[in-house]
Amino acid sequence: MQGKRILLGITGGIAAYKIAFLIRMLKKSGAEVRCIMTPASSDFISPLVVSTLSGNPVGIEFWNKQTGEWTNHVEFGLWADVLVIAPLTASSLAKMAIGNSDNLLLATYLSMKCPTLVAPAMDLDMYQHPSVKRNLLQLEADQVVVIPAERGELASGLEGEGRMAEPETIFKAIATFFEQKNTGRLKGHKILITAGPTFEAIDPVRFIGNHSSGKMGFEIAKVCLSEGADVVLIAGPTHQTLTHHRLQQIDVVSADEMFEAVKAHWESSDTGVFAAAVADYKPISVASSKMKKSDIDPTIALVKNPDLLAWAGAHKSKNQYLVGFALETEDLLQNGMLKLKKKNLDFIVLNSLADEGAGFSVDTNKITILDERNKQTEFELSSKQKVAENIVEYLINSIQ
Ligand code: CTP
Repeated sequence: MQGKRILLGITGGIAAYKIAFLIRMLKKSGAEVRCIMTPASSDFISPLVVSTLSGNPVGIEFWNKQTGEWTNHVEFGLWADVLVIAPLTASSLAKMAIGNSDNLLLATYLSMKCPTLVAPAMDLDMYQHPSVKRNLLQLEADQVVVIPAERGELASGLEGEGRMAEPETIFKAIATFFEQKNTGRLKGHKILITAGPTFEAIDPVRFIGNHSSGKMGFEIAKVCLSEGADVVLIAGPTHQTLTHHRLQQIDVVSADEMFEAVKAHWESSDTGVFAAAVADYKPISVASSKMKKSDIDPTIALVKNPDLLAWAGAHKSKNQYLVGFALETEDLLQNGMLKLKKKNLDFIVLNSLADEGAGFSVDTNKITILDERNKQTEFELSSKQKVAENIVEYLINSIQ
């Protein structure tokens, strides 16, 4: 970030107080920071704090009432390498979407020569409102990079989506932007992702499940979203959460429910990444009330679940691209190739349980990608986040 010129726009939301931390981080990393605040934002953070931390006077009004001096918004726009608006309220978002310039920040946005990043922050119901979603999509169509709001405790006392991304996340998004990684290479693509385990009910309180955390599928969804894709994420029971205006998350419990969601969305998707650890079998019948110890037959009869990936492969058109996963203990490549052919995949991500640090409940993974021409690409043991980046990079190179 050394020497980068960052123009920070602050609008009037409670999250504005967190911007002090962001300014500190940016300054520490060697960036130059100048700030413009909307008049409403000074109710949430003092301009004195902002100017002291940034080391520069703060722009608030078009002209200084004491000196009569005019603030040149065009000059701000020419100075900056990037404009970052955080927090972005629903009101400022709406004004940006229609090109309203009724304060210094909005006028500056309209005269910017450099890219803009925004970090929305609002209450639960506001963030879910169709007009807000529409405005965010409009901003993206205008080439603005949206740093999605997160899920968590909100100032209203409600719990849910709408909380501004943490200063660390915004900082990372700015750094990524300068590394030019986030280039929207999946814009216009609709990607269907399955993630997590499935639970197969025995009775209303018991089930057959597995230890999948869902992390791999969620990390892949995050990378696809940051590359501009529309994502349908079909998730079994996990503790993972993800919020994004281009994300449709469908929560399911059983393999049958996951299958219904896959069937509803596969035809309209151009790419499928099936990372879920779907239970291969389910109990033949589910008791309608909790079974008493004395009633339980110690042997549970099972039937096979549908194979979702094989179904998608069998219904794949020539414009669709399909990726599967396999967890093997032996003959990794040979078994991987068999699965790839049987399920009609374009490539398969192989995990070997024999590798230390790979598998379900750990945060790291070691993969080999095998494609339908038998090309093998091995990757080093890395975090699941990095592995997701590798998989999506491979996908982008394959579909282009
Ligand atoms: N998969 C699926 N539906 C199932 C089982 C698996 O969609 N009912 C998908 C997984 O999401 C994964 C791939 O198929 O992408 C491989 O799963 P795996 O269980 O390793 O393969 P199987 O074909 O079930 O083979 P086996 O368990 O015999 O190794």
